[in-house]
Amino acid sequence: MTKSLIIYFSLSGTTKTAAETIQKYTHSDIIRLEPKTPYPAGYDKYSKVGMQQMRDKADVAIQTEIPDLHQYDYIFIGYPTWDGQVPRIFNTLFKENDFSDNRLVPFSTSVSTPFEDTLGSLKAAVGDGVAIVGGFRYSGETQVRDYLKNNNFK
Ligand SMILES: Cc1cc2nc3c(=O)[nH]c(=O)nc-3n(C[C@H](O)[C@H](O)[C@H](O)COP(=O)(O)O)c2cc1C
Repeated sequence: MTKSLIIYFSLSGTTKTAAETIQKYTHSDIIRLEPKTPYPAGYDKYSKVGMQQMRDKADVAIQTEIPDLHQYDYIFIGYPTWDGQVPRIFNTLFKENDFSDNRLVPFSTSVSTPFEDTLGSLKAAVGDGVAIVGGFRYSGETQVRDYLKNNNFK
């Protein structure tokens, strides 16, 4: 039996929906990443803060407690695309936690940016010595179900 975890970050709920769809089919454990300093309410306001963090390569502190990761084979990593990249909170996640026993399956959400465009920033955040296997941009339940089935996750 493989054991898997989903770690996701979501402000307006799209990545949350994607994460919960993966959970529905894989019965993974699931964690929502929350920053220590909450983003302001309202798309215009949090977009400004988020974009500034991307420009500054900011350190975004994490509020959420991360469990012992050694117990998991696969960890799904879910993120909204910000400025073509992985939001800075993930740089903190990978800096502060040891994922060397895990295989990461990233999934992005975005208005239009393809998943592949975000991979460079993801790899930079993850660092060396951690396996990234596959991944996809979320585009609905059927696609998630097919991805999981085609890759033997369900
Ligand atoms: C700060 C910020 C930057 C964004 N940059 C991009 C981008 O470069 N490309 C894109 O297609 N969408 C971009 N978006 C849109 C989000 O990726 C998209 O709406 C995502 O699905 C939101 O996920 P959420 O509902 O889980 O927060 C951006 C949104 C924000 C707030």
